[in-house]
Amino acid sequence: MHVTAIVPAAGGGRRFGGAIPKQYVSLLGIPVLVRTLQALWGSGAIDSLVLVVPPGEADRCRAEILERHGVRAGRVVSGGADRQASVHAGLLAAPEAAEIVLVHDGARPFIRPETVWAAIRAAVSTGAAVVAVAVTDTIKLVSPDGHRLETLPRERLWAAQTPQVFRAALLREAHSRALADGFRGTDDCALVERMGHPVHVVPGSAENLKITTPEDLARAEQILRARGTRAGAGP
Ligand code: CTP
Ligand code: MG
Repeated sequence: MHVTAIVPAAGGGRRFGGAIPKQYVSLLGIPVLVRTLQALWGSGAIDSLVLVVPPGEADRCRAEILERHGVRAGRVVSGGADRQASVHAGLLAAPEAAEIVLVHDGARPFIRPETVWAAIRAAVSTGAAVVAVAVTDTIKLVSPDGHRLETLPRERLWAAQTPQVFRAALLREAHSRALADGFRGTDDCALVERMGHPVHVVPGSAENLKITTPEDLARAEQILRARGTRAGAGP
């Protein structure tokens, strides 16, 4: 089965701040996005890859990220105003041959090969799969005034990560329907869920963090050091 990866990396990194977008920030000598792409190719599970970057950045990304670090992307396309629009742009550029689409955030460099494979296997058999971790905190639903709280049942709460993997036709339909209905979701799963289609949960690990704030970068360096990776070496 042809598996294509769509890597949304078109965000502005508002919460991270700083002079350069977080996906280009160096993580022990190698940009976060390069590490993410190396991890996906290194899994041996994907056949093609579409990288989604901010509008106007495709050339810079090709030169400074892909060529400089010797990492491949079949296509580099411009993203949109939110993550959903960026993944949609990636889907439109995905090869016709793609039967399975794996969506993975450019800002999650620590995905493990076995997790990539588990999510793909689940999507092949059920149509849709999400890597997620059981939450450890007690989560509260808080009213807008901040005073009325409701405690959600922790045993049923999972934090969704990526990869999120789908049969290509299902994800294409989910995006088309969301667009037609004016629905905006913060992940791809949400678009499939609202179709009433079940999504299989693949247990992941807290290590598969998304670099969101500067503190996450410090944690990411710790993780890399703990893995025994030298600066300049691959993940
Ligand atoms: N993303 C994207 N297009 C957007 C917004 C986000 O491709 N318009 C990507 C980001 O580049 C990132 C992933 O989606 O790889 C997850 O998004 P997030 O962590 O929220 O990144 P940003 O949107 O860049 O950060 P922030 O929300 O803090 O601005
Ligand atoms: Mg964002």
